Amino acid sequence: MAEELSLQQGDKAEQYQGLIPQIQAIVADESDTIANLANICAALQQQFDWFWIGFYLVRENELVLGPFQGPIACTRIAKGRGVCGTAWQQKQLIIVPDVDQFPGHIACSSASKSEIVLPIMLGGECVAVLDIDSDVLNSFDEVDAYYLKEVVSIVEDFI
Ligand code: SME
Repeated sequence: MAEELSLQQGDKAEQYQGLIPQIQAIVADESDTIANLANICAALQQQFDWFWIGFYLVRENELVLGPFQGPIACTRIAKGRGVCGTAWQQKQLIIVPDVDQFPGHIACSSASKSEIVLPIMLGGECVAVLDIDSDVLNSFDEVDAYYLKEVVSIVEDFI
């Protein structure tokens, strides 16, 4: 594994394009799921400096906080609750441009303004979600969705 992440310049798509092969290389060298999820959060956070990024893992019938970067967060989320619980229940990627407009949004922090959540699927079931929060409204778009799906597919290969 490279000693250091090579941070990428350019527009958002170029930043993802430079980062994703590095993420692939980082996880290729390690078989432990938690170690890999932790480094994926760190790599994305180093590049994009979002307010919060992390994984919630399905444990029995709840989402439980997994590896993350950012302030402390809610540890458990019920199915169908908040953006994460909804993405889990619907097995759908969700972009929320303004969290105050999302019914039932769970405010772990009032600083969070917009959000993207992607389900991580294994054998047709959602086994985890990737949750990214921004302290700026309207931070996430189709470019993020496209490249974060690539990150999720890397996770789906080892989780
Ligand atoms: N915003 C999430 C809760 C988790 S935190 O923001 C870290 C939600 O509504 O699902």
